[in-house]
Amino acid sequence: MLRVILCENAARWASEAADIIAGVIREKSRPVLILPTGGTPMPVYDALAQSHADGVLSFAHTTTFNLDEYVGLEPTHQQSYRAFMERNLFQRVDIPAGNTHVPLGVAADMAAQCQQYEQALEQAGGADLAVLGIGGNGHIGFNEPGTSFASRTHVVSLDERTRRDNARFFSSLDQVPTQAVTMGLSTIQSARRILLLAQGAAKAPILRAALQGPVTESVPASILQCHGDVVAVLDLAAASQLEDLSVEWRAGLRQMA
Ligand code: PGA
Repeated sequence: MLRVILCENAARWASEAADIIAGVIREKSRPVLILPTGGTPMPVYDALAQSHADGVLSFAHTTTFNLDEYVGLEPTHQQSYRAFMERNLFQRVDIPAGNTHVPLGVAADMAAQCQQYEQALEQAGGADLAVLGIGGNGHIGFNEPGTSFASRTHVVSLDERTRRDNARFFSSLDQVPTQAVTMGLSTIQSARRILLLAQGAAKAPILRAALQGPVTESVPASILQCHGDVVAVLDLAAASQLEDLSVEWRAGLRQMA
């Protein structure tokens, strides 16, 4: 089932998303989360760090697995996703360092690492919640259009569009890596619950395609239509091209108002 929660402003959007994540952390004795990077989750991580600072949320028993990492960047590189996570979340909360997993972009044997990453997730008991952003081309993780729905963790070549979208974090487009390691679509889909996050009009067309268009490997996020428990937390601009919003969706908006 897909549930959409519409939020009228950015503060509401971040707190709604953070509440869903915090709810899973509180409800499970050993919660396991799949986490994204990118511009989208930053305000959500701020809200979670604030809850921790306020003494109402602990990550002491939480285990995390990040979706992806650039190939070729050391974990200490400013733009590596390990460094992003340390800066934006891990260093701000009480999660034990050993509980955080981000693929290594400089592993000597990438294929072996991909397998180990899958095994580690399985040994942790699988993910209770996968938190996802969505790329302008419909990617989730770094699963670019055309990726098999059956994919597990693997190395990918990045789309030119993705490299351009992410160039804002680098000094120039040349500096953006050309490859990444990412959980596969089947890995993501195996999470017991999925939280999809998006804000802004630029994401509206791809959300319409992913959530209400045909289920096709040319729109990787369309696989989410086959998952039994997806919540999309969207602002009004991101949701502006969705059609036939159900009463429940509108009810979400009224509750937010
Ligand atoms: P963004 O990226 O959050 O920076 O928009 C989303 C994504 O590419 O998954």
